[in-house]
Amino acid sequence: MPKEEKISMLWLLRYLSPVKGRLVILLMLLLTSTGLQLINPQIIKRFIDTAAYGGVLTTLIQLAGLYLIVAVVNQLITVGVSYLGNDISWRATNRLRGDLLKHCLRLDMRFHNEKTPGEMIERIDGDVTNISNFFAMFIVQVIGSFVLLGGILVFMFTVNIPIALVMTVFTIISIMFMVIIRNLGVDSSKKEREASASLFGLIEERIAGIEDVQANGNVPYVMNRFYRLMRSVFLKGRKAWMMRIVPWNTTVILFALAVTAVLLLGVHYYLIEEITLGTLFLIYQYTQMLNDPIEMLGDQVQEFQKAKSGMLRSRELLSQRSEIVGGDEEQLPEGALGLEFENVHFRYNEDKPVLKDVNFVIRPGERLGIIGRTGSGKSSLSRVLLRLYNIDSGVIRVGGTDITKLKLPALYRRVGMVTQDVQLFDGSLRDNLTLFNNAVSDVFILDTTERLGLRQWIDAQPKGLDTHLSAGGTSLSAGEAQLFALTRVFLSQPSLVILDEPSSRLDAATEAMLQAAVDQLMSQCTGIIIAHRLATLEQVDKIMVLGDGRILEFGDRVELAQDPESHYARLLSTGGREELA
Ligand SMILES: Nc1ncnc2c1ncn2[C@@H]1O[C@H](COP(=O)(O)OP(=O)(O)OP(=O)(O)O)[C@@H](O)[C@H]1O
Ligand SMILES: [Mg+2]
Repeated sequence: MPKEEKISMLWLLRYLSPVKGRLVILLMLLLTSTGLQLINPQIIKRFIDTAAYGGVLTTLIQLAGLYLIVAVVNQLITVGVSYLGNDISWRATNRLRGDLLKHCLRLDMRFHNEKTPGEMIERIDGDVTNISNFFAMFIVQVIGSFVLLGGILVFMFTVNIPIALVMTVFTIISIMFMVIIRNLGVDSSKKEREASASLFGLIEERIAGIEDVQANGNVPYVMNRFYRLMRSVFLKGRKAWMMRIVPWNTTVILFALAVTAVLLLGVHYYLIEEITLGTLFLIYQYTQMLNDPIEMLGDQVQEFQKAKSGMLRSRELLSQRSEIVGGDEEQLPEGALGLEFENVHFRYNEDKPVLKDVNFVIRPGERLGIIGRTGSGKSSLSRVLLRLYNIDSGVIRVGGTDITKLKLPALYRRVGMVTQDVQLFDGSLRDNLTLFNNAVSDVFILDTTERLGLRQWIDAQPKGLDTHLSAGGTSLSAGEAQLFALTRVFLSQPSLVILDEPSSRLDAATEAMLQAAVDQLMSQCTGIIIAHRLATLEQVDKIMVLGDGRILEFGDRVELAQDPESHYARLLSTGGREELA
């Protein structure tokens, strides 16, 4: 076994260790069933011989009854095997699904920017489903098949050696063949999984953007891409399937040859009266039975190929490391936190710098307003501050500590952000506000929402905080969602907060109300407000004007406003129309 394969196997076995007990029971049931299967032809043999050579009727009835009991018990055991098999595979694969999801949630934004959610679903669920059979049935069925094969051959050697030899040779050739070509379908199965992941990616993306797709009359184009991806899934799926069934087809042919040879020999020995009619039937029966375990092994080889492709993809995903690695520091000063950017350079892609040599300091409790044209890097600045991306060079310090030296949870506990697009999750209003943190009390929620002016709105909802919201934000207007996001961030009582365009979607009255609330809430912390509208920044202490990733201007708001040469003063005098789109 190649090294990689061995490692993957050991890795999978880890997921089986918590279900060891069940596996043992499953194996025992399977062995019992195998034993019963071996016994049944013997009963029929006796029955035929008793009948053919003038036996007693009661013996015949007893044999028939015994046959019936064995068959029924065997069937019951089969049900048990099937139940346990599924149980084990769900238990083991759910752990794997959990691990994959947890891992993905921790991967950095660069990784997620490249993957669509649909593709991730396929990787977390689809690939794992491929492994599930392997978990439950592979080991057990392979062992069961070998025991059954062994049993049949041993019995045959006691009956007729030449026939037993033919069957043994056939069995060995079939198994060797399957072992040799067991990896034939792995690559094509992996490609099939990839194609399927892209297909799901497309469906998810387009359904998520359904409004734009419909409004722009985009359906035909979407369908066109869909058909092309479907075609790719079909072609790759067909190839993978063909590669997988080659071993099975080959054994079918081998089997036909073996049955012919065995039957010819059997008839020959019967004609020269070396074996009885019952034994001839027994030979026939065992030859037929030989097919089952071999076919099962063939199936398992196919399943193994599918499982291996799923396993490789899952392991590949688990081996992806997030570029965002937390440090060891946990302690930040109490209260509002200062912020410092020192020679910060950042880019998303090699070709285009987004932040260029950004230097500034804000003291604890101060408020900074950032303005700049669309695409000037304002949101990027907040993203690097929250370590959604690593900067290329320079240092960012929060509360005097380099953020790369901080434990990530320590950073997120103290720094809050409201982004330009608000995400809602499927759950109650309360869950959406607290992000499913039960420790936040209703009193605190209502108090905060009161101050933000959202209280009335909550009270007007049919079930108050228990009102159900659906994911994706369709249950709230854009303005409401923004208020919502603000409340959410303030409930976490941050010591440094970044509001990215907090009032862009609000009407004048709501904005004024929000402004007052933000002022009050921000009295406890350091604040950064990113805004297009200058009116939003009337209460801030410092102003930063960003242009194409550089700081064009940074200073005290009042001083800048009084300096007629400053960008800020010029913007104020033109009502923001001059330089900012
Ligand atoms: N995930 C990303 N990958 C690559 N480039 C990006 C990414 N996000 C933003 N950019 C680019 O980085 C630059 C700065 O974007 P950013 O979102 O910081 O601008 P902004 O100042 O917030 O603009 P706006 O006022 O429209 O919100 C833009 O040129 C944008 O195209
Ligand atoms: Mg932005």
